[in-house]
Amino acid sequence: MTETAEDTGTGGHASGADTTGDVASEVARRRTFAVIAHPDAGKSTLTEALALHARVITEAGAVHGKSGRRSTVSDWMEMEKARGISVSSTALQFTYAPEGSDVDEPYVINLVDTPGHADFSEDTYRVLTAVDAAVMLIDAAKGLEPQTLKLFQVCKHNGLPIITVINKWDRPGRAPLELLDEITEQIGLVPTPLYMPVGIAGDYRGLLRRGEDGAPEEYVHFTRTAGGSTIAPEEHYDPDTAAEREGDVWETAVEESELLSAMGQDHDQELYLAGETSPVIFASAMLNFGVHQILDALVELAPPPRKWPTVSGEPRETTDPFSAMVFKVQAGMDAAHRDRLAFMRVVSGEFERGMVVQHAQTGKPFTTKYALTVFGRDRSTVESAYPGDVVGLVNATALAPGDTLYTGKKVQFPPIPQFAPEHFAVVRAQSLGKYKQFRKAIEQLAAEGVVQILRNDTRGDANPVMAAVGPMQFEVVTARMKAEFNVEVVVDNLPYTIARRTDAASADELGRQRGVEVFERTDGELLALFGDKWRLQYITKEMEHLTIEPLVADT
Ligand code: G4P
Repeated sequence: MTETAEDTGTGGHASGADTTGDVASEVARRRTFAVIAHPDAGKSTLTEALALHARVITEAGAVHGKSGRRSTVSDWMEMEKARGISVSSTALQFTYAPEGSDVDEPYVINLVDTPGHADFSEDTYRVLTAVDAAVMLIDAAKGLEPQTLKLFQVCKHNGLPIITVINKWDRPGRAPLELLDEITEQIGLVPTPLYMPVGIAGDYRGLLRRGEDGAPEEYVHFTRTAGGSTIAPEEHYDPDTAAEREGDVWETAVEESELLSAMGQDHDQELYLAGETSPVIFASAMLNFGVHQILDALVELAPPPRKWPTVSGEPRETTDPFSAMVFKVQAGMDAAHRDRLAFMRVVSGEFERGMVVQHAQTGKPFTTKYALTVFGRDRSTVESAYPGDVVGLVNATALAPGDTLYTGKKVQFPPIPQFAPEHFAVVRAQSLGKYKQFRKAIEQLAAEGVVQILRNDTRGDANPVMAAVGPMQFEVVTARMKAEFNVEVVVDNLPYTIARRTDAASADELGRQRGVEVFERTDGELLALFGDKWRLQYITKEMEHLTIEPLVADT
């Protein structure tokens, strides 16, 4: 590939100049988050609405190329696009200053995309290890949906604070209190609305800003714009004027707000940061209603980039020398473009393009002269980045998700957990003569985290089982085996849908049960696979002495 900016060589000013103060102020103004949602809840629409309200600095293919929308899918990913997946999405960076705020410099917001739909895969989960906060987007008519629940579990596991957005309030949906109850009951997160909607779903007029004990502080009235394609004008009224203007619907909002306060559902910053409560905003991403309130909540409530746990036990402070965590690796399936993009989240210090950093896993230096933030038609380079920012590294063949890059004294972050797979298939080389390449390819793809590889003695080494959170990964393996390793493979789906952790003492007995098979994963974990939840429930109940435990991201 060609480089679009002049190579600055190696070095940068990583060592020497004291940039601690700069880094601290850059950290303070950054927010890095992901949106978790079930397909169709409006994630793409919200992303666009956020970008509309903010000044977009850089974009890494974050907006899906839906009809009539901007598409930044790069050419080399045409193949993936043709296959109906949007694996190119990664991160969108923009600045935002709350209205009337007197901050010297605007906030820098990094929105890291969680791939969904057909491309739902471990990457979707891995993104949630690279952010500091999440926005849970819910469709007002549908409430919590399966994919949202799964992603919520991962956020919870990672200790991410969550802001809830109830979207599509412009069209008929459920009652606000009913939706809020569902959140408490199904996931145990206590919703604490920052605003109550004025007007039922389908008759969205504005938002009541909740003050102490749920008393209304102000009324934000929205006006529709044609097609919702521009920022919706807002008018602000005091509660008395609001009551005069809106009558009954205002009174209802006031009553609901006070009722919530009586139940203790008021925002509490500490409980929010601890992941116990979730501020809620009712919005319409399509009409741009409530969107600037979402941004305000993000900058005012969501935490700045955090210190990171390390394997040595001493956390990495954001002002320490440069370090970053690789959370996603993307390989071109097109043989002509052997591009390997590794996306890293900066954890500490200042990143400068051209810096030579150390790769903790191999102990080898890595030159970052091809560092990108934009993967659109014009690839452009990034010159510097700070904690919370996402940078793509080109031709990063040695990097895998979970890897650490650093300067200075060695640091290593804990590996990203392997998530609970739900799809399983045996994979084997079509021709036995290719067995050696096949084995090598399998090892490589497993190391990259494309799929998890499971083995047992019964099936033998030539028939490993691929396990993934999304079925599209098996197609990715098949295509890459052929393109990169010249091995044609046969994939046979297995009828399992659930994986549970077990131990050596339970493995034999568990493996003898009908409809259960036990495997060893490459990381040494023993996994028992079950056909369905009834089989799992039955065996768990009948054989209490056996170890059968949930894996990360099990709901
Ligand atoms: P996703 O990325 O989460 O999958 O959802 P996306 O934004 O594509 O939105 C899914 C559908 O919901 C789209 O309609 C979109 O226009 C609609 N939508 C999103 N936000 C709102 C909202 O606030 N109010 C209303 N009424 N609709 C909303 P579509 O018909 O599937 O696609 P399109 O033809 O509108 O693009």
